Amino acid sequence: MSTATQDRSAFLRALSGERLATPPIWMMRQAGRYLPEYRELRAKAGSFLSLCYNPELAAEVTLQPIRRFGFDAAILFSDILVVPQALGQKLWFVEGEGPRLEPVANAQRLGEIDGQADADVLAPVIETVRRVKAALPRETAFIGFCGAPWTVATYMVAGRGTPDQGPAKDLFGKDPALFQEIIDRIVVASVGYLDAQLTAGVDAVQIFDSWAGSLGPEDFDRWCIAPTRRIVEGVRQRHPDARIIGFPRGAGRLIPRYVKATGVDAVGLESDIDRTFARDEIQSLVAVQGNLDPLVLRAGGPELEREVAAVHAAFGAGPFVFNLGHGILPDTPISHVERLLAAVRA
Ligand code: CP3
Repeated sequence: MSTATQDRSAFLRALSGERLATPPIWMMRQAGRYLPEYRELRAKAGSFLSLCYNPELAAEVTLQPIRRFGFDAAILFSDILVVPQALGQKLWFVEGEGPRLEPVANAQRLGEIDGQADADVLAPVIETVRRVKAALPRETAFIGFCGAPWTVATYMVAGRGTPDQGPAKDLFGKDPALFQEIIDRIVVASVGYLDAQLTAGVDAVQIFDSWAGSLGPEDFDRWCIAPTRRIVEGVRQRHPDARIIGFPRGAGRLIPRYVKATGVDAVGLESDIDRTFARDEIQSLVAVQGNLDPLVLRAGGPELEREVAAVHAAFGAGPFVFNLGHGILPDTPISHVERLLAAVRA
């Protein structure tokens, strides 16, 4: 028998469709503000973006939750908005608020920024990948990522996070050709970026479509599924065995269509999806990842144990990676993460 199967991490085995008695676990935003050791390095770096672009510190921050909790996978510490920055858009973060970019909401502004990603901007992130890869324990998988074109475009067009993605929706309604041009640039840049991450050592990649849930079915096909499928195909041309996780957050009943049309190996599920539907209509197609509510983790108590059991009862019989339904909240007590791990691994 080949040893290849045995050598692979629990996480990669689950992504390949294997059912494991104890599911592998990692958490979105597992390297972040709820950890004192993160806050310390973040202060040392001066700003969030300086941390993202400092390979020594970013590698250290990626490894912190692995050392403390022994998660089954590490996720590269960076941000989805480094891609617009590589495309020539100015990016900064306002303390306590979030990202800001110079909006690209008309043809003139799009003409002013580069058509192609500047590899020099992303080079420090790729160096972070090499450093993490060299330092990770063998049994720990390593996840790279990018934002999905729709979600990245919402920030590029509005210049910030928006409650309803209104500016991006206005633009695709008013000037679909211009919006398509923005999406196309993100697709090409993202394929190159994920290719570089996989070449430098990540084992799998996740495509974060945080705002997928705000698109109706037709717009979902055009602006979420079609560009994601191009990224999956582009990545697989260069890395035929690449494991790809899609996270069309909030897409609910559209997820089976997303899975079939994009060809992802696994899909991340939001917390409020109907778990019976997800098991019967999604997990029957691919591995699922999720979906504990980050609010339940923050609250702790008996409800946390009950919900962990409910997630396990829904998805434990098929290929499954335990995760949250969205990123961990910054004010989550560390003791709750320890209890989560104990409950999942019991
Ligand atoms: O999951 C991980 O631990 C990997 C690193 C990671 C970050 N952001 C670090 C981060 C990943 C995968 C992301 C993805 C990301 N970034 C998304 C998609 C996932 C999601 O959360 O919906 C989006 C929409 C962004 C853009 C972004 N970055 C926003 C809107 C914000 C501000 C909100 C916030 O949480 O503060 C960020 C900042 C950010 N990205 C932080 C971290 C650890 C906090 C920065 C800090 O230290 O102040």
